Amino acid sequence: CRIVVLISGSGSNLQALIDDLRTNPADGAIVGVVSNRAEAYGLERARTAGIAALSLSHRDYPDRDSFDQALIRQIDALNPDLILLAGFMRILTPDFVNHYAGRLLNIHPSLLPKYKGLHTHQRALEAGDDEHGATIHFVTEELDGGPLVVQGRIPVETGDTPESLAERVHRLEHRLYPLAMRWFIEGRLRLIDGRACLDGEP
Ligand code: GRF
Repeated sequence: CRIVVLISGSGSNLQALIDDLRTNPADGAIVGVVSNRAEAYGLERARTAGIAALSLSHRDYPDRDSFDQALIRQIDALNPDLILLAGFMRILTPDFVNHYAGRLLNIHPSLLPKYKGLHTHQRALEAGDDEHGATIHFVTEELDGGPLVVQGRIPVETGDTPESLAERVHRLEHRLYPLAMRWFIEGRLRLIDGRACLDGEP
C-alpha cells in the first residue's frame, strides 16, 4: 500500500504514522509527503525519515481548481493507494475529492458531526461539553462530513483551556490515525456504497 500524506503544519500526526510503521512494519509505506506550505515543519520530519518531501504553494495558482489539479498531478506521480490528510488546511474541490474517492482519509479534532471546521476545542468548551475527541473519516464533497471510520473520546476536565484540550486530543489522534491507516493497509477498511466498512460491516 503506497501512502501519501498531505500536511500544512507541524506534522505531529505524520510523525505518529511514520513511527507506527517503523515500530511495527506493515505492508505499506509512506512514499511522499506534500505540503501547501514550504515552511511546514512536517516536511522536515519527512526528510529526516527519508521520505520524499514536496511542497506546492496554493499562492502560485490563480484559483482553487488549478491548485487542486496541480496537486493531483503531484500526488498521482507517486502512484498512491491511500491519501491521508493530516492537518492539511485547505478545502479541497469536489474534483479532487472524487478523484480519490474511497482512498482519502482525514483526521478532525472533534467528535463529528459536532464542530466541523476550525476552533473545535474552543467550541467544545463554550458549549459546556463533558466530552470531546477526534474523528477519522473518509473525505467526501461535504467538508468534514464524510463517513466516519473511528472516533476517540476524552473527558473535558474542570479548568481545561483550548490549549490543554488540544494537547490531549493530539495525543489521542496519534493513536487513532495509525490504527485507521493499518486497517486500510490490511484491506479491512473500505468505502462501500458510500459507507465506511470494517471487515465488510458498516
Ligand atoms: C490535528 O489536530 C488534526 O486533527 C487537524 O490538524 C491538526 C494537525 O496537527 N486536522 P499536526 O500537524 O499533525 O501536529
